[in-house]
Amino acid sequence: MTAPTWRLAGVPVLVAGGGPGALVEVVRLRERGADVTVVAHELVPALEDLVDRGLVARGADVTEADLVRASRLVVDARDRTEQGEGPDVLALAAEAGVPAYGLQGTDQVTGAQGPAGTGSVVLVGGGPGDPGLLTRRGYDALRAADVVVTDRLAPVSLLSELAAHVEVIDVSKIPRGRFTPQEEINRVIVEQALRGRRVVRFKGGDSFVFGRGYEEVLACREAGVPVEVVPGVTSAVSVPELAGIPVTNRGTVQGFTVVSGHAAPDDPRSSVDWDALARAGTTIVVLMGVETLPRIAGALLAAGREPRTPVACVMDGGLPSMRTVRTTLGALRDEGVPEGLVPPAVTVVGEVAALS
Ligand SMILES: C[S@@+](CC[C@H](N)C(=O)[O-])C[C@H]1O[C@@H](n2cnc3c(N)ncnc32)[C@H](O)[C@@H]1O
Repeated sequence: MTAPTWRLAGVPVLVAGGGPGALVEVVRLRERGADVTVVAHELVPALEDLVDRGLVARGADVTEADLVRASRLVVDARDRTEQGEGPDVLALAAEAGVPAYGLQGTDQVTGAQGPAGTGSVVLVGGGPGDPGLLTRRGYDALRAADVVVTDRLAPVSLLSELAAHVEVIDVSKIPRGRFTPQEEINRVIVEQALRGRRVVRFKGGDSFVFGRGYEEVLACREAGVPVEVVPGVTSAVSVPELAGIPVTNRGTVQGFTVVSGHAAPDDPRSSVDWDALARAGTTIVVLMGVETLPRIAGALLAAGREPRTPVACVMDGGLPSMRTVRTTLGALRDEGVPEGLVPPAVTVVGEVAALS
């Protein structure tokens, strides 16, 4: 039983209950920007404090149908000692056509959840693939979803924990394989939200790191769909870390640069200044670059890096199949992609790549 995880800025929410459960729920709703009115005979001290400071309004009586009708969301947060106090707020909300849920029984959230009758989209960065590396906030969003639009690099095993009614839509982009165009993904998440559903867009790593998340945010905004982004643990740092490689290390290197290797250095589509990168003195972290690694190594060597420079390629970070291949820039250029090295992999170039 969870409160919505999307922004509720300015949305009037009525909470019935004054006990500890109501307090927790009120605080959670307030964190999301809701204008909360609480109705209860008695309030626990912290709730009373919120009311006294003018941060939460106190309604007279929930039987006032106007109070329910004036709300966009109704929450029955009465604890056991308060049950039987006043009318069935969920029934009142249903009568008034206002979405509602209760903390004691089954989830009563119904239909449209957004302030204007639309649903919402939460972009959840799922981390590198280990379910334990999904953030708490991301997990809560997932559990509150009606539909999950997922990528394969997200920790998809967690989807087994979703309620049976939750629809899962797979829009994975497989390198050289099945591919859902970004425009289609944008269309799907917007369409689902406009049907009044709580959509979680579940992605690997962090949505804003080579994740095209911002494009999805813009698509939602253009369609008037409320959208929130839950940051994720990016593979750029976590995958090396899971293999024991620190991307910075005091006394060794004072920074790191994350680049896409999708377009090789000699590809006109590449906008990365590989010469500058070679001279920058930072660790280089390459995502999406398995096939282009020999050409990347060639460019870095041509710009003056030492052939003995350590390189570590970490595949399937955070998954049971995780494996690290260690090599050097010279060997990569001269011998090509090491046997068995396949995407997804994060490649680390620099002295730290020799650590474990
Ligand atoms: C399209 S990018 C998405 C990156 C993601 N948004 C992030 O922040 O980690 C996909 C690339 O991320 C890297 N990657 C993501 N998850 C990985 C994992 N579990 N193990 C190794 N590499 C991973 C690979 O370089 C892969 O080609």
